[in-house]
Formats: sequence, structure tokens, C-alpha cells
Amino acid sequence: MIPVSEPVLRGREAEYVAECLETGWISSSGRFIEAFEDSWAAYCGRRFGVAVSNGTVALQLAVASLGIGAGDEVILPTFTIISCALAVMYAGGTPVLVDADPATWCMDVGQVEAKITSRTRAIMPVHIYGHPVDMDPLLRLARRHGLAVIEDAAEAHGAEYHSSESDHDAWLRCGNFGEASCFSFYANKLVTTGEGGMVVTDDEPLAQRLRSLRNLAFEPGRRFLHRELGFNFRLTNVQAAIGLAQVEQIDATVARKRAIGRRYASALSGVDGIRLQPEREWAKSVYWMNGMVLDRTTGLDARALAERLRPLGVETRPFFLGMHRQPALLERGLFGGEKYPAADEIAEWGLYLPSGVGLGDDQVDAVARAVEQALR
Ligand SMILES: Cc1ncc(COP(=O)(O)O)c(C=O)c1O
Repeated sequence: MIPVSEPVLRGREAEYVAECLETGWISSSGRFIEAFEDSWAAYCGRRFGVAVSNGTVALQLAVASLGIGAGDEVILPTFTIISCALAVMYAGGTPVLVDADPATWCMDVGQVEAKITSRTRAIMPVHIYGHPVDMDPLLRLARRHGLAVIEDAAEAHGAEYHSSESDHDAWLRCGNFGEASCFSFYANKLVTTGEGGMVVTDDEPLAQRLRSLRNLAFEPGRRFLHRELGFNFRLTNVQAAIGLAQVEQIDATVARKRAIGRRYASALSGVDGIRLQPEREWAKSVYWMNGMVLDRTTGLDARALAERLRPLGVETRPFFLGMHRQPALLERGLFGGEKYPAADEIAEWGLYLPSGVGLGDDQVDAVARAVEQALR
């Protein structure tokens, strides 16, 4: 069976972890935490990194640290993981949805403005499956309306976006946009710590607030005095040790992921009835996951194709199911009667193929042949 994803730990991970064990620095203090935060923030072009225990709490911490709370609205794509909506709801705020762009599967930036109200505080773009959101128009909109941008770059380590803004006409890495950018380092991400996450930012007071709320909001100078409600979202030095070793390999990881993405595109280009995620001219995707959407003419939905691929030795995963389809959110009175047809379409007809960085060219070719056979 060719798995959807497997972590590859071939750098200095074992050496760094051994150092933690030998020195006893196994909790959330130790040299690897800061080294990991600094190296990842620098890679993203940011001044500060605040490591946390996973990507979900990275979003939660960013929302809380920006002071978003009861009565506030945050605009986010319906086609994403529930972590985005939860981050807003845990703060007492309300998630407001926009549909997916049918081609890139990322949030349809053209639909955001119509969702802005007097209660909107922030926009949360999510770079889906490693392909950047069209950030320039989104950032302009946020600026015009005085909104914060919380970037969810959990799936887009090392992906790049060509910004044509007058002050920087350049390729910028995802994680570089808005007030705060959030990452996950779960085992299927390009940089992994097993479980882990980080918020990166250029804003020093915000970084301080992120650090404080991450660690129970202890009063500086008077430990065990708390003026606000914090969280324990700390990452361990052992996880950061793995993370630092992973960051050291990021250039090779991104290059290999892009090569796998291109190989799938070429191997599947002659197959009728499927659509891959295109790479826009302003984007360099990292193909975190290589997704495809079936044409209705195939007569197969994503679940049926997955069932045919499994006996051919190919593991797959279904696409996200829109937030407007989540019982846990609907029963709280959210999104009643709202329609998001593009997200519904790709959720029903989309799935993703094996995409791990350790995948060989022969495995990519074998998966492509299996897809062709399953569709026949
Ligand atoms: C877009 C996105 N945001 C947030 C998360 C949450 O990250 P974690 O699983 O580390 O909590 C994920 C998880 O994969 C994700 O894909």
C-alpha cells in the first residue's frame, strides 16, 4: 500500500533529540525551542516565532492574542479544517464563511467583501493543499476596512506568492502575510515535530502577547499572578529539536514536493474526467497534498474511486467537508440556509493521492496508472 503521507526524518533529528535526553531538557525550556522559533520565523521572512503544541492552538492563540472576542466576526473559507472555525468560536467570536474558488479550491477572494459587516475584525485565508490564496486583493481589502489578517499556512510551508504591491514586487513565502501567520507541524506536514505548531509575526507587542498567553499569562515579575486567562500551549524542547532538524532540510523538502506535484500533473495529464489543482502564475505551490476532482461524467464520486484504488495499493483521503455542513456548528445556530456550491462540489468529487516527501518517481507513476485503471 502506498500511503498518503509518511514523515521523513533523515537529518539531525536523532542527534538533537539525543541531546535533549542526555541533558535532561525535555520540557518547554531548552535551546531548541528558541533555535526552532528563530529559524522558522527567519525562513518565513518574519521577525518572531512562537512555538505551540499544534496548528489548531496556533490559530486559537493568534485569534485570542489579537483581542478578538464576543460579538466579533472573522471571515474564513468554508472549505477548510474545523480548526479555523473553532479558533474563532473558542474566543467567543463568530466564523463567517465564503465559498471556495472552483479552480484553486482556496477561498474565493472575490466573495469576501460582501461578507464584511460592522462586526468583522479579521480575515483568515487558508492556503489549501499547499497552494497560496491570492493575497494581494485580500490584503488591500483588509487594509481598506481596517481588518486584521490571520494567515493559516498550516499546509503551505515554503509555498510562495508573487505579490505585486507597490512596496514589494516580489515572491514572498506563505507565512509572511498579515498580522499573524499560523503553522501546523503535524506528521504529514513539510516540516514536522510529530505534533506542533507556530505563530509567526513581525509585531513585537503581539509576539510578547502570544508568548504570555501561550504560557498561562503569568505576570512578569510576579509568578502565579494572572491578570487574564491564558493557555498552556507550550511545545517541548524534544519536539523543537526535531523541528530544527526538519527546518535544516526545508529547501530539499520543498524541491522534492514540487517535483512530485509536477510529475503527477504530467502523468495524469492524459487522463479524462479529472481535474488537478492548477498552479496559478502568481503561485509556487508545495503540493502538500495532490488532490483531484472527478468529473461527474465519470459516474464515480470520490468515495467510489477511493474504494477502487485501495485494492490497487493506493491509499487516498477525502477532501474537507465544508464548515456549513458540520452538525456541531449548525446546531449552534451558525450558517443556517447558507449555500456554498463550489465547496460542496469539490467535497463530493474530490480526494487526494499519496503525496509524502519520501515518495519515489516510480510510486508516483504507479499511482497515476492505478487512477487510470480505476477510472476505466
Ligand atoms: C489548514 C489547516 N489549518 C490548521 C490545521 C490544524 O493543525 P493541527 O492538526 O496541527 O492542529 C490543519 C491540520 O492539518 C490544517 O490543514
